Amino acid sequence: MGGDRQTPDVSRAAIKDDIDKLSKTPEQFRQIQTFMKRRTHMNANSELALTSSEFAAYIINHGGELGKLGDVSQIRDLRQCFADTPNGSSAPLTLEIGFGMGDSLLEMAQNAPERNFVGIEVHEPGIGRAAFLAHELGLTNLKFINGDAIALLENLPANHLDTVQLYFPDPWQKKRHYKRRFVTPERMALVAERLAVGGIFHAATDWEHYALWMLDVLDHMPQFENVSGQGNFTPRPDFRPQTKFEKRGMDYGRSSWDVMYRKV
Ligand SMILES: C[S@@+](CC[C@H](N)C(=O)[O-])C[C@H]1O[C@@H](n2cnc3c(N)ncnc32)[C@H](O)[C@@H]1O
Repeated sequence: MGGDRQTPDVSRAAIKDDIDKLSKTPEQFRQIQTFMKRRTHMNANSELALTSSEFAAYIINHGGELGKLGDVSQIRDLRQCFADTPNGSSAPLTLEIGFGMGDSLLEMAQNAPERNFVGIEVHEPGIGRAAFLAHELGLTNLKFINGDAIALLENLPANHLDTVQLYFPDPWQKKRHYKRRFVTPERMALVAERLAVGGIFHAATDWEHYALWMLDVLDHMPQFENVSGQGNFTPRPDFRPQTKFEKRGMDYGRSSWDVMYRKV
């Protein structure tokens, strides 16, 4: 991984300039994916969770063809998916984008039983694994979606979500890939629209350039206020467990940065 890292200019002026260049071509953003589907081994439990109807309650768009990006076009309301659960549909709702293998999301759902959580991923072994474990744990406040978070957000109603969390998103380190970063003014405008007023966008990254980039994008959006004050990172909150990618980064000696914004 280290091999393809560039050493970018992390001065705030240079980062601002890169963001401004992006914003000149907003029409491109609908076509550009923020992910690259990885092919990795899928174990038997993951495959079972993706294919057996026993797990259908855990994967909102369960039953799609393996190997294909999940279809989210019919998902227009996440709250309704919890109507038959003990929390019901009006409990505070968190959407996690790109939960990877799911360990930190499972832990958060266990630690906050009064909230409902939905995780969306494109990585099938992770979706299957997380759904298998959620079923084993008997969690009723956590569900998963297989698919592209941007396509999902486009279909959801305004003011639908209480929290959107994005932990260690793909950093897209090369300049020519910056447009793939999840945090861009255009994609964050969509996130802001789907958040309720007072709702929280929380992100973390271990790539310094992306951390400063997130601050610049979000500090300039009138829809958001920085919970820690303009220009400041947020100390890592206790409720955010370490993620798999974060642990890997720490093994390489990297730090991590959290940003937290409230929709105004
Ligand atoms: C670097 S990994 C981090 C995974 C996990 N959050 C962690 O910290 O261990 C980023 C994840 O985001 C997912 N992802 C990127 N863009 C996405 C999108 N538009 N919709 C759903 N998942 C996405 C990727 O598939 C990948 O698994």
